[in-house]
Amino acid sequence: MDAILSLRRSDDGNNNDETLFARIAEDLLQRGYSIQPAALPEHLASTLYAHQHYLAKEDAYEDAGIGRGGDYVKTEFIRSDEIRWITGETDAGQQWIEWTATLQEFLNRRLFLGLFSFESHFAHYAPGAFYKRHYDAFRGEANRVLSVVAYLNPGWGHTDGGELVLYRDDDDIEGIKVVPLYGTLVVFLSEEFPHEVLPAKRDRYSVAGWYRVNTSIGNKIDPPL
Ligand code: OGA
Ligand code: MN
Repeated sequence: MDAILSLRRSDDGNNNDETLFARIAEDLLQRGYSIQPAALPEHLASTLYAHQHYLAKEDAYEDAGIGRGGDYVKTEFIRSDEIRWITGETDAGQQWIEWTATLQEFLNRRLFLGLFSFESHFAHYAPGAFYKRHYDAFRGEANRVLSVVAYLNPGWGHTDGGELVLYRDDDDIEGIKVVPLYGTLVVFLSEEFPHEVLPAKRDRYSVAGWYRVNTSIGNKIDPPL
């Protein structure tokens, strides 16, 4: 991987992760969200980066909203990205699942969040694609508790658009803009922060995931195993 893609050395990865996870936990406690530039371990970032470009080359993404019972007619006005759910069948998916599991464990230990399962997908926003203001979860429907997004776009500049805008609440119209630069990680409470993705001027790659709590009642297993 060339210099522009170099992030953190991976030889002392565990210590780095502990420091990063502690910062995320503290931010979540203080304000409910955390924005961490250059957070992804280099080996993980470069593997995800390569895999996303492979998916793009193979035309392996599908329009967001079609899978998992989504309402396509409705969602195409809301979001126009394309996605690929992560199953752990690929090395990249497996590495991401393992890393996010260590974050899950840490946050459960530190904040007693009771995070139970994790689902995630690769996302590609073609030039012009967007995701309008939305919540990842709705209050009272205790399912998605914590959202995490990792960005994989080297050299992303301020004129490239495609920022994530995180709004503090329903009345916030300004929000906090996050540049989707390679290695940046954003974590926020899913029920608390409406957010949107502004139209990108370049191809924009990210991985988005959600930790859920266990809401099984009787024999209805939710989330599915
Ligand atoms: C999402 C989402 C944000 C981003 O997929 O739900 O809000 O910056 N993604 O990609
Ligand atoms: Mn979202």
